[in-house]
Amino acid sequence: MKKYILALDQGTTSSRAILFDHRGQICGSAAQEYPQHYPHPGWVEHDPNEIWNSQLTVARKVLHDNGVEGSQILAIGIANQRETTIVWDRKTGEPIAPAIVWQDRRTAEMCDQLRADGKAKLITDATGLELDAYFSATKLKWLLDHVPGARERARHGALAFGTIDSWLAWKLCGVHVTDVSNAARTMLFNIHLMRWDADLLQLFDIPEEILPQVVSSSEEIGNTRAALFGASIPVAGIAGDQQAATFGQACHKPGMVKNTYGTGCFMLMYAGRHPRVSHNRLLSTVGWRVDGRTDYLLEGAVFMGGATVQWLRDGLGIIQQSSDVEALANSVPDSDGVLLVPAFVGLGAPHWDPYARGTIVGLTRGSGKAHIARAAVEAIAYQSAELLLAMQKDAAIPVAEVRADGGAARNDMLMQFQADLLGVPVVRPKVTETTALGAAYLAGLAVGYWESQEEIAAQWECERRFEPAMSADQRGHLLARWARAVERARDWEH
Ligand code: G3P
Repeated sequence: MKKYILALDQGTTSSRAILFDHRGQICGSAAQEYPQHYPHPGWVEHDPNEIWNSQLTVARKVLHDNGVEGSQILAIGIANQRETTIVWDRKTGEPIAPAIVWQDRRTAEMCDQLRADGKAKLITDATGLELDAYFSATKLKWLLDHVPGARERARHGALAFGTIDSWLAWKLCGVHVTDVSNAARTMLFNIHLMRWDADLLQLFDIPEEILPQVVSSSEEIGNTRAALFGASIPVAGIAGDQQAATFGQACHKPGMVKNTYGTGCFMLMYAGRHPRVSHNRLLSTVGWRVDGRTDYLLEGAVFMGGATVQWLRDGLGIIQQSSDVEALANSVPDSDGVLLVPAFVGLGAPHWDPYARGTIVGLTRGSGKAHIARAAVEAIAYQSAELLLAMQKDAAIPVAEVRADGGAARNDMLMQFQADLLGVPVVRPKVTETTALGAAYLAGLAVGYWESQEEIAAQWECERRFEPAMSADQRGHLLARWARAVERARDWEH
């Protein structure tokens, strides 16, 4: 009987399950969107039970649809939306509140206060992160402050905190763990000492008893309850989705970069065996720990990537489905001077401005929906270009190419414009489900399905390479104009 690795890719808007074979090829996949909740302006919540139910449904579906038995799955790997914060009752397993999603801005003022109190450096030095509402620490503090009795119950060990990986591991195997890559995104984890940071726990008033045990990204953490898949399957790989994608893109050498065009855009560069301190407001983060060795990455996070296209669909209604955007944007030769800065939830790297808001500039009487669509697509590339510029300043060696993945990487127009703006080739691999692939690789390495990272890197294949075709002058002109547009979006909602 053929054996597979099952990857669970729990993303911000959908849960996915993908079966991989030994060649790293996709043998089946299933996906399901689940509801987003916006109870107040700036708040974004998920129902943890909806996350679990959708994830379990697609995992069972991919097995069923492809005639695969649970016993044919050698291991499960988890890749997950990061930072999203859940607290649940250890006895009942019930969440005490909705999950606070990474995009949620409710703790922006808490961050302002911490900054005013001079705490930003302490936080960045220990965690490699920017003090921002994006990360879990202030979200967890908010829950403990606002759910009656929560902090007290946490002190007595009655509650468990976790990001989505922890929640899924709990539901699958009944263990309370998180891997190093997810821990590194909580703003409570010291990436130099590789442990929860006592000073930060004190600063955020987080009882240690609530924290998960930190594990490697590639190790058996438990077996699934037999009732779930008709067999007890080891969960053997966990990584935050962006780190998993970096692993799946085989960026294992210094200077190798991947950019994922998902809900947001996340550009990560392999940095080596020590954290690299950014001088350009990028994040220094843990990539993964495999075989006792920790690898680090530099990261630039943009909050609105493909989600900008969803807004064209759901907010403006100028396209029926996301894939229609390419044809509409291509129906005009350029955006005719229209620029859209998608700061709908503030701006991430390298600006870190929670008070920025979405802006469209350069409208004339001749501007139409096609120009706005084109500006929306181009905005994804502009924001990513800002990340690469910052990365190039921080990097020790020049970036030779950017490996692209995620839904919007299928958009040829975007990929070409991206290469033009970067002045660096953009390369699209044959398997663009690199997030799931990375999780599968991490799990497969732990159970001996694959031998080494070299074996994995050899499986990476290019599907198409986009060469830059824009003059340096034109690139400079466009980027300068973009910078002016960003200035207009900044510091708006005070
Ligand atoms: O940091 C947030 C990130 O992990 C979300 O990824 O793919 O769900 O947009 P995605």
